[in-house]
Amino acid sequence: MRRPLVAGNWKMHGSRAENGALLEGLLSKVDTAKTDVLVCVPFVYLAEIAYQLRGKPIKVGAQSLCAEAQGAFTGEVSAAMLKDVGCEYVLVGHSERRSLYNEDDALVARKYMAAQSQGLIPVLCVGETLAQRDANQCFAVVETQLAAVIKAAGIASFANAVIAYEPVWAIGTGRTATPDQAQEVHAFIRQVLAKYDATLANAVRVLYGGSVKGANAAELFAMKDIDGGLVGGASLKADEFLKICAAAG
Ligand code: PGA
Repeated sequence: MRRPLVAGNWKMHGSRAENGALLEGLLSKVDTAKTDVLVCVPFVYLAEIAYQLRGKPIKVGAQSLCAEAQGAFTGEVSAAMLKDVGCEYVLVGHSERRSLYNEDDALVARKYMAAQSQGLIPVLCVGETLAQRDANQCFAVVETQLAAVIKAAGIASFANAVIAYEPVWAIGTGRTATPDQAQEVHAFIRQVLAKYDATLANAVRVLYGGSVKGANAAELFAMKDIDGGLVGGASLKADEFLKICAAAG
């Protein structure tokens, strides 16, 4: 009953020419009868891509946003601006934002709320580093990351959000969590939410991210609590991304 979602995270890749070719490849074959498909693109291309995808089956998202509504925040982009150019989703708390740009749980929660305040759907990314996993802190880390958002935004906010479990050690490393490892954490995420609201915990989509490819997507998506993927590297190649989308449907 949870509709799968496959989200591409292009990160800082692409050009107008490359994006055009990639989207053309995707649009020619994508089948969204059973799966939602989303591309999260760099800010500068958002308006153009949202315009190109008007009325098309692929949805558009941003990769980050500013927690503030407007004002003297040079270089930042607000939720209202994202909404204004046709964006529907936005990644919040991606591990690269957390580790490279020092976004802590409190800031991530503020960004999540800023997104929802404009009707954008935040894709809240959580996940542990390798050191944390090795120290058996995976569940504690994920729970803390979720708790910060639950505390700030309230459990009801998850009716309009997506969660992505992305173990940091699996991102861009070619090392994927096994389906069982991922399933265990996905089930745990639902357990954490269920302490507040069991219905919402069951309804929220929880994506897996971290070296998802055409070759491993089906076994991951077959797990009970995995509702699709957040895909980095493999989202840059139309055929590979389409295989992943097909595996979710
Ligand atoms: P990856 O990236 O698929 O290249 O591992 C996933 C992500 O960072 O969202």
